[in-house]
Amino acid sequence: MAKITANITGVAGYVPDYVLTNRELETMVDTNDEWIVTRTGIRERRILKDPDKATAYMATQAVNELLAQTNTRPQEIDAIICATATPDMMFPATANLVGAEIGANNAFGYDLQAACSGFLYSLTTGAQMIESGRFKKVLVIGADKMSSIVDYTDRSTCIIFGDGAAAVLLEPNTEGFGFHDCVLRSDGSGGKFLNIYAGGSLHPASHETVDKRQHYIFQDGQPVFKMAVSKMAEAAQEVMQRNQLTANDIAWLVPHQANKRIIDATARAAGLPDEKVMITIAKYGNTTNATIPLCLRDYKDQLKKGDKLLLAAFGGGYTWGAAYLTWGI
Ligand code: UT7
Repeated sequence: MAKITANITGVAGYVPDYVLTNRELETMVDTNDEWIVTRTGIRERRILKDPDKATAYMATQAVNELLAQTNTRPQEIDAIICATATPDMMFPATANLVGAEIGANNAFGYDLQAACSGFLYSLTTGAQMIESGRFKKVLVIGADKMSSIVDYTDRSTCIIFGDGAAAVLLEPNTEGFGFHDCVLRSDGSGGKFLNIYAGGSLHPASHETVDKRQHYIFQDGQPVFKMAVSKMAEAAQEVMQRNQLTANDIAWLVPHQANKRIIDATARAAGLPDEKVMITIAKYGNTTNATIPLCLRDYKDQLKKGDKLLLAAFGGGYTWGAAYLTWGI
């Protein structure tokens, strides 16, 4: 029997309309467009302004478009994995809120929390569901309303993040298209450099945690930067080596969009020229779990069936990894 691979049969995304530019940030904190562009590559990011809408809303917009694009009825969906660091609530899972919204009443769903590597971890998990033969249609979502956890008085983090969502549909394939391999790692000792201190079971919300602004993202940028540069490159190279892939074989690098300098370093380590690297950071900033699927959405028209893709991510945790797949639409 032919081997079953998990093919991406559709990709769709959603970003809110509101554009938060570097110029506007200059009016909010002591920063400037030149610093932001040279240090991060970010020019603007999208913000979901409506206080009554959050991650599930954006994810639902993306998924509705995906279902229409792939002619899929919601009842056909077997599983929904939502990679998010900003669930609408602690529970229920955002995946369940999306499932209810779209009418996926034959599916089970859950959220996966691995900070900026969440989509890569979720894609791997979803692919294994398909490869097992047990499930036929798995939705993998990456969605974050980062503006809900960003401290807009902290110039070292507020310039980085944006809101957005994107999703892929995974289906079985027996012609060798789709997900092939991955290297995934995590190291909890890095948690102290990038976290949200309060709001969990260790430091539940209190007047004190609110007064100390401990429900916002804390990041010590430099150690995170150094680890991101080395670990994304290491994982990408490991995946290439064990699949006997050279830079010539790879059509596209699809990197997590945290910092243009980290992306450039990963591309250099993999020997890939700029024209093979998907870049959306200038217009969206770091949308955490949505960066990789939003890249796929934005570059969809340039992707050809059979293209070999190298995905790579690094995030809080620390979490990181890389994956190799063949585009099969
Ligand atoms: O996606 C999850 C994983 N996260 C990442 O991968 C992020 C990794 N880290 C980074 O991308 C970078 O470390 C940052 C973009 C966060 C910061 O860039 P940096 O080149 O590492 O800057 P820095 O933190 O070393 O700060 C350099 C200077 C400091 O001033 P002094 O101490 O040299 O006087 C900062 O206070 O830049 C200052 N600074 C700013 N200046 C203008 C920090 N933020 C800003 C700002 N505007 N927004």
